[in-house]
Amino acid sequence: MQRTFILLKPDCVQRRLMGQIITRFEQKGLNFVAMKMLRITPDLAKQHYAEHVEKGWYPTLEGFITGGPVMAAVVEGLEAVKVVRDMLGATSGLNAVPGTIRGDFSSSRQMNLVHGSDSPEAAVREIALYFEESEMCEDTPTISKWML
Ligand code: TYD
Ligand code: MG
Repeated sequence: MQRTFILLKPDCVQRRLMGQIITRFEQKGLNFVAMKMLRITPDLAKQHYAEHVEKGWYPTLEGFITGGPVMAAVVEGLEAVKVVRDMLGATSGLNAVPGTIRGDFSSSRQMNLVHGSDSPEAAVREIALYFEESEMCEDTPTISKWML
């Protein structure tokens, strides 16, 4: 099992697409182990996107990502990092193949709805940026007891 970090960006919240996108991850077989709404501060944005802070387009990215509430989540599953990245599609919604989340819902390079960690190392770093270990809700098989 592997954990990865997902962020439903402000465009996703404002377009009321959270439910459809959470459904896709659940349908694929990923387990949600943590989830919360928050407002990203400029400081957190710079930590999250540390690899992009020097890029010319970073200021507009920071404005976008801090511009409204987001939903941060941790999901768990086999090869979760790769599975989520494959489900997101290419960075720009214009290039993302239909059938992917960005391919189906976005036509923008910046407003591409969902972030997913791009490596297991990035997942560990990003989960720690947004969550305490005590916020992880491990899946337990107790439900089966009630379904007997
Ligand atoms: P990047 O890490 O390249 O993409 P991904 O999210 O697929 O890992 O870039 C991070 C985010 O920055 C991306 O989701 C959207 C935004 N971005 C821009 O606003 N302008 C750009 O030119 C690029 C390449 C990305
Ligand atoms: Mg990236």
